[in-house]
Amino acid sequence: MSVIQTAFVAGTRGAWRIERITAVTGQALAQADRLAVVGPDEAGDVAAGAQWRLDGATGHPRYATRQELDTLAAVQQGLGRPEARCAALIPIRKNPAWWALGQDERRAILEEQSHHIAIGLEYLPPIARRLYHARELGQSFDFLTWFEYAPQHADAFEELVSRLRQSAEWRFVEREVDIRLVQD
Ligand code: HEM
Repeated sequence: MSVIQTAFVAGTRGAWRIERITAVTGQALAQADRLAVVGPDEAGDVAAGAQWRLDGATGHPRYATRQELDTLAAVQQGLGRPEARCAALIPIRKNPAWWALGQDERRAILEEQSHHIAIGLEYLPPIARRLYHARELGQSFDFLTWFEYAPQHADAFEELVSRLRQSAEWRFVEREVDIRLVQD
């Protein structure tokens, strides 16, 4: 699996129109009209005059088991499906208590207690996803989560995020911003 580096640049340019930016927990991000999702080399061009820029890189799985990875691989869809005109960018930072835990404890909270992967799988294949890590890049968020779906699955996506936000894992989330996008 090769690493994909991506910059999310909010301003006046980009393929995605920003519908709304909501602060779920902690500080919001500034409002903007459009979002460009670009490689790091192109980011400089679109970033001039931008409201904000978030960088992330895909990484190797930390918690998913072999069986979960195989199940995901069998059902998950790629990004860029023409019918998936809705997207969500949800940057998340977890608190120091989370990062002080051991890998085994974090896995237990994520899956055995919160059923993050099992719940998420209920919403595949309609929801396509990509997880970017940002903490290691010294960014203000730990993760940039990206989702794409067709308009008819918007309600299902709302249900998914609301179920995850009620989980034990989310008690460790100290900052979360929910950015919803459409491709006209
Ligand atoms: C991590 C699956 C939806 C936020 C993960 C991981 C999996 C997964 C397998 C673990 C990756 C690893 O092993 O390192 C899914 C599936 C979803 C879904 C199938 C269905 C669409 C969501 C949603 C959000 C979210 C809606 C945000 C509201 C995260 C975050 C992590 C993560 C922040 C990183 C957790 C950490 O490393 O501490 N997800 N997820 N996921 N997911 Fe989801």
